Amino acid sequence: MVDVLIGLQWGDEGKGKIVDLLAPRYDIIARFQGGPNAGHTLIVNGKKYVLHTIPSGAIHPNTLNIVGTGTVIDPMTLCAEMDMLMADGIDVSQRLELSDKAMLILPTHKMLDKYFEESKGHLKIGSTLRGIGPAYQDKYARIGIPLGHIHHKDFDAQVKELSLFHLSLLKIYGLRPEDFDLLDHAKTTWLDAIERIRSLSITAIEDTINQAIKDGAKVLAEGAQGSLLDITFGSYPFVTSSNTISANACIGLGIAPQKIRQVIGVFKAYMTRVGSGPFPTELSNETGELLRTHGHEFGATTGRKRRCGWLDTALLHKAIILNGVTDLMMTKSDVLNCLPTFTAHDKNGSAHEFASWPDDIAEITQIDHLPKNLLKYLDFIDHQSGIQVSGVSTGPQRHQMAYR
Ligand code: GDP
Ligand code: IMO
Ligand code: MG
Repeated sequence: MVDVLIGLQWGDEGKGKIVDLLAPRYDIIARFQGGPNAGHTLIVNGKKYVLHTIPSGAIHPNTLNIVGTGTVIDPMTLCAEMDMLMADGIDVSQRLELSDKAMLILPTHKMLDKYFEESKGHLKIGSTLRGIGPAYQDKYARIGIPLGHIHHKDFDAQVKELSLFHLSLLKIYGLRPEDFDLLDHAKTTWLDAIERIRSLSITAIEDTINQAIKDGAKVLAEGAQGSLLDITFGSYPFVTSSNTISANACIGLGIAPQKIRQVIGVFKAYMTRVGSGPFPTELSNETGELLRTHGHEFGATTGRKRRCGWLDTALLHKAIILNGVTDLMMTKSDVLNCLPTFTAHDKNGSAHEFASWPDDIAEITQIDHLPKNLLKYLDFIDHQSGIQVSGVSTGPQRHQMAYR
């Protein structure tokens, strides 16, 4: 049995927090798309962990964490994450399985990301510059290097050939001498990281997952980014380079559609977006600034300011349909009480005003016990989205969650 958890907005909905919270109900947590453009924050016992590659089951001692077939992997980020966890006594390496079909991100992929963005001028996407787009480009051009090739005897030659091709492209874009030096340095660090990950479990994870399902295991597929950044259904071209919606869990893990049971959709009580692209309910004013300050809306991967705005239920409704959401979870409602009143847009685009609440909701564990004004907001969302919110996150910490 597989459940899928995905973001319903432009990413950073709080997926990491919810996955960490739900992890004890599952045997396996698996990432199925994206790469280190993701930044998933978990706060456990007051300690903060930001994960980019390793699934958000990392802190649980009995959870197997799988990095799936549909992902792109930067060995340097992966090693840095393992070290970050190890510094806290968490050795995830024995509970980590990487797909042999995941695609490797080379230092030249990151450099290409930067030069492609620069060349776009005012049409730049605001990419995280982690090499995601160029790595997926090479996958579909059938010149990429799958992680499993790390054990092939001509691996070094493959890396050399692809790097030389990238260099020829970079020269067309006017590669600067300082960036050439940077690449030279990165190559050494990258090869060191490759040596370290050689000893990890690199397998046909689709076989592991399907056997586990057959044996009765429960799997949670952890989405990255959000539905509005989906390469097909997002606001193209201001999107990421993978399909972020639930259907891609099948391709990104090698499981058949009928194996999927629940689809857990996570959304913020307001909206944020990092990078460029349309944002109909954006607040480019003091109110937006207030939400950013109180919600700590700065990117977990790049530290950039997140653009803030009101909840747009037309977009939420569409994302719920595209993903087939069965369980709806709202995060960051606690942030809204930094304002006396706040707004949300209905499916027709009309604005509705709501009064906030003075109470601190951080320790409330039942939705019924939430302040009356927040329950009114939930009623509105239930009505507009066509599905009842079943979980309300009341703060960034693991236990801060109210259920219906
Ligand atoms: P993800 O990419 O979807 O995993 O989300 P991020 O980790 O990038 O961003 C979500 C941020 O909000 C993190 O800093 C979380 O610690 C924090 N967070 C998650 N849920 C809540 C919540 O209910 N209330 C508050 N105040 N913060 C939350
Ligand atoms: P998580 O998993 C928020 C955004 C970037 C940019 C666009 C393309 O933490 O929710 P890319 O690096 O993929 O070429 O960037 O997508 N973006 C994200 N925004 N959360 C993310 O991941 C994101 N991953 C990519 O800011 O606008
Ligand atoms: Mg994030």
